Amino acid sequence: MKITVVGAGNVGATCADVLAYREVANQVMLVDIKEGLAEGKALDIWQKAPIDLYDTRTIGSTNDYAKTAQSDVVVITSGLPRKPGMSRDDLIGTNAVIVKSVTENIVKHSPNAIIIVVSNPLDVMTYQAHITSQLPRTRVMGMAGILDTARYRAFLAEALNVSPKDIQAMILGGHGDTMVPLPRYTTVSGIPVTELIAKDKLNAIIERTKVGGGELVKLMGTSAWYAPGSAAAQMVESIVKDQRRILPVCIQLDGEYGINDCYLGVPVILGKNGVERIIELDLNGEEKALLDTSRKHVKEVMDVLDKLGK
Ligand code: NAI
Ligand code: 2OP
Repeated sequence: MKITVVGAGNVGATCADVLAYREVANQVMLVDIKEGLAEGKALDIWQKAPIDLYDTRTIGSTNDYAKTAQSDVVVITSGLPRKPGMSRDDLIGTNAVIVKSVTENIVKHSPNAIIIVVSNPLDVMTYQAHITSQLPRTRVMGMAGILDTARYRAFLAEALNVSPKDIQAMILGGHGDTMVPLPRYTTVSGIPVTELIAKDKLNAIIERTKVGGGELVKLMGTSAWYAPGSAAAQMVESIVKDQRRILPVCIQLDGEYGINDCYLGVPVILGKNGVERIIELDLNGEEKALLDTSRKHVKEVMDVLDKLGK
């Protein structure tokens, strides 16, 4: 198995590191446009192998996509991150150009790859990669829901003083302030979360989750990378090992949830063919309304991309 990670910055290098030490594939290629960066980070990760005891070979390349040929899965993390005061949507102009050219290079050398987009604005960059690659929608997806759900789970674990391992949850919708956390589908080792926490505390956690990315940008002056890198690696692992995990993933909706032609996070089964199945939850009226607000927001940003000429 060969995995390529494009962008050897904070998220890309973290993702490559997690893929290597978890031995998800025997080869991980790291690519960046900045001379020497991918080679250096790949070499550093390889030199960690004798310490952490893994044998995944990590190799770097400065923009030479021939070296990525026949990759099974490609993760796109190339692009600008947010600075304080910016929204994810502010990145569209620059990152659309980057994601388009990277996707063209990927499909030229790995026409059968499964593509996982991480670059922001996530839902619309997934749209960009999908239309550029012309691959089936089940093979082009975005990572955001696992991260947003992990933030929610971590906040809940802290509030309840229990292990984060025991919190199961699902967040739908776009990657932004309009994301749709679902308390009705949140359990702690099978116990509905609403039986364990007061409503006002749960609402405060939901609100904190919605702006969880921004909280980290304010603290660090750039966006997060440990949880995002691991989240993307978890998607790769589910595909490469055909684990069929049920995970929230951004994909083009084609009638599911009554939504057409919009890229949103929904629960899917992730296996060797990419998205094996989209799971349609039986949402109540309030949840449907929140998902519709998220759809409208993502659609507005998709329209901006259309006007930019894709
Ligand atoms: P970073 O600045 O640390 O790394 C980005 C890398 O992309 C840089 O090394 C840069 O040289 C490279 N790059 C730029 N143009 C390129 C090109 N044409 N080809 C190859 N490489 C190129 O940024 P970071 O923190 O790694 O974030 C990357 C992207 O991921 C950002 O757009 C950020 O907003 C997004 N992000 C998305 C998350 C999500 O949940 N979907 C979570 C965290 C970050
Ligand atoms: C995050 O949520 C910036 O989208 C990135 O951390």
